[in-house]
Amino acid sequence: MELYLDTANLDEIREVASWGVLSGVTTNPSLVAKEGRDFRTVIAEICDIVDGPVSAEVISTDRAGMIREAGEKSGWHENVVIKIPMGPEGLAAVSVLEGRGIRCNMTLVFSAEQGLLSARAGASYISPFVGRLDDIGVDGMEVVSTLAEILERYDLGSKIIAASIRHPAHVIDAALSGAHIATIPYKVMQKMVSHPLTDRGIEAFLSDWARHSGEKG
Ligand code: G3P
Repeated sequence: MELYLDTANLDEIREVASWGVLSGVTTNPSLVAKEGRDFRTVIAEICDIVDGPVSAEVISTDRAGMIREAGEKSGWHENVVIKIPMGPEGLAAVSVLEGRGIRCNMTLVFSAEQGLLSARAGASYISPFVGRLDDIGVDGMEVVSTLAEILERYDLGSKIIAASIRHPAHVIDAALSGAHIATIPYKVMQKMVSHPLTDRGIEAFLSDWARHSGEKG
């Protein structure tokens, strides 16, 4: 189970990369727009920090545009993975691009059926949006576990990226449901790393040590 950050913020990426736990990064147009910086520059800087797949999404809605954009963006760095939105145009683009050796991450996947189609089109990565399904009262993790079972049973090579992660329990559920990767917002990563008992334990160790040192001195 690999952990990616779902962000285009370099400070967040630098921080989590320094923990030694980061295998990749995903971005989307909303996350890049939030940073207010040039797309290509941001992706290049992320690739300098993280030695792993970095997803950059296309804006085109037709297959020819997606393929053209993917050809350009995949040339930015060898670790760039092209994020393509699910649909007939996306499937067609992914099948062409993967045939050319350009790795794709099928995004905006909300059902196992969409996931199976993505796998058959040859997508290297498939991103079910768990949180957005939960938001509308559908069990998002069910899509991850069903898709994981299908990929395993039929030996399909795509990797599942559990996306739209809202809280730490989503990450553990994704791991237990068979996701290969979870892409995690920085705020959720911060929640994962901390625990009140860890903080209390450190405080107790330090105050006991200070008392011990005082007694000896
Ligand atoms: O980047 C794709 C996905 O993780 C977005 O999540 O929080 O906008 O539903 P969210």
